[in-house]
Amino acid sequence: MEVAPKKVHIKTFGCQMNVYDSNRMLGLLQERGFVVEPDLREADVVLINTCSIRAKSEQKVLSLLGELKGLKDKKPETVLGISGCIGQRMGRTLLHRVPHLDLVFGPDSVDRVVPLVEEVMARGARLVEAEFEKMSRAYVQPAVVLDKAKPSEYLTIMKGCDHFCTYCIVPYVRGREKSRAIAEVLEDVRKLVDRGTKEIVFLGQNINTYGKGTEENLAQLIERAHEIEGLERIRYVTSHPRDLGMDLIEQFGKLPKLMPALHLPFQSGSNRILKRMSRLYTREDYLLKVEALRKACPEIALSTDAIVGFPGETEEEFEETLTLMEQVKFSLAFMFKYSPRPGTRAMIYAGEEVPEKIKEARLARLLKVVYPQIDAENRQYIGKITPVLIEAMDKKDMNFTGRNPAGKLVHVFNAGAACVGKVIDVEVTDANGSNLKGYYVHAERNAEPKTIKPRRAAEALPA
Ligand code: SAH
Ligand code: SF4
Ligand code: F3S
Repeated sequence: MEVAPKKVHIKTFGCQMNVYDSNRMLGLLQERGFVVEPDLREADVVLINTCSIRAKSEQKVLSLLGELKGLKDKKPETVLGISGCIGQRMGRTLLHRVPHLDLVFGPDSVDRVVPLVEEVMARGARLVEAEFEKMSRAYVQPAVVLDKAKPSEYLTIMKGCDHFCTYCIVPYVRGREKSRAIAEVLEDVRKLVDRGTKEIVFLGQNINTYGKGTEENLAQLIERAHEIEGLERIRYVTSHPRDLGMDLIEQFGKLPKLMPALHLPFQSGSNRILKRMSRLYTREDYLLKVEALRKACPEIALSTDAIVGFPGETEEEFEETLTLMEQVKFSLAFMFKYSPRPGTRAMIYAGEEVPEKIKEARLARLLKVVYPQIDAENRQYIGKITPVLIEAMDKKDMNFTGRNPAGKLVHVFNAGAACVGKVIDVEVTDANGSNLKGYYVHAERNAEPKTIKPRRAAEALPA
């Protein structure tokens, strides 16, 4: 009798790296014969790929784990696992704390997902693997590319971060920086392009220092990737203002496939707070980089991250963040209330915590400045034509979504399924703070625009 394949469901929290890791785990499990199950309750293996960046990110996962107790009671044979940054940070503690959890592992064990899951299944053992690079060479292995790749794909080219910004947990959960070789990365790019990918988004926590300790660097990788036939768009995240050199800046004016968009978090507009954060640049340095970027590529869309209420932040210092936002006029901004992370260096300022109410008020003031800026910028597209790489079709609404060079999300009402994976010219007819809407210029305008729920572009993610 044939045995039914095991069904796996992965739920992903956190940054693009986790999205990449989840896809990678799904790829490896599928190669092994598992099938993807969209309904968590129906799956034989449920993995939660987690994030530790703020206390709220962890609370969300812990409450989900609580809810899943019912599922385990009803179907005890379900394998329930935690991967990602919480797995790394809490390790065995988490297994003790959550008796219905079977498996805990960190980002460096992503490549070992198959043996880990199979061992739990075979032996019923409860397992923990949260040591950096214990088993795998490093988790920066070639991409797992199945038959068909998406029009836009993430590709992790390095792991870890050596910066140790004082508020940040990432260096503790992802370890030290380690880069893949350019030749290997290019091979992955070619594989993806052969299977239909048009845009690659290179990922690294501190991507500007890609290749550190070797003869290679990010500018070289971008240049080489640019030569690959069939690849139409290149992006990368995340840049650090100190490590973004002139070679990288100038590429935005020279390389047509390198999209005119850059995420460049500034975190705070106050030099005293930047120093406390150990960001290694000043407000003035940051503004000079912005100027150089806009000189090299006047249409570049800059996005950013900022933190309000870092310990000791005064009203005046917060206002320096506000004025920097006003001055630069970002295309997109993610703003967070500072969240203390155990074990990070900022804990030495614990006595100077900014009260929650003040953090909230500052965040609200910041949103009030940023949201109208983004809204106004998006409205400038109305009446213009912008090239959009169509990434997906929303089956429910029968509209198509994609991104323009600046990275703006665009809803296209009259594109056909044949447009998925192609860059098409779209005339923008409407816009708000979170997206643009319009019509493919070379097709009939037969479909009526559906109302799309406005989503705030200037996202205040819960801290
Ligand atoms: N490597 C990237 C991303 C780090 S995490 C970088 O260097 O920018 C994404 C964002 O989360 C950071 O840019 C920062 O704004 C925010 N963040 C990190 N730690 C935080 C904390 N403890 N509290 C609030 N926000 C935090
Ligand atoms: Fe965290 Fe700073 Fe590294 Fe970014 S550069 S991941 S904020 S330590
Ligand atoms: Fe979160 Fe880990 Fe990414 S802490 S932001 S998932 S590196």
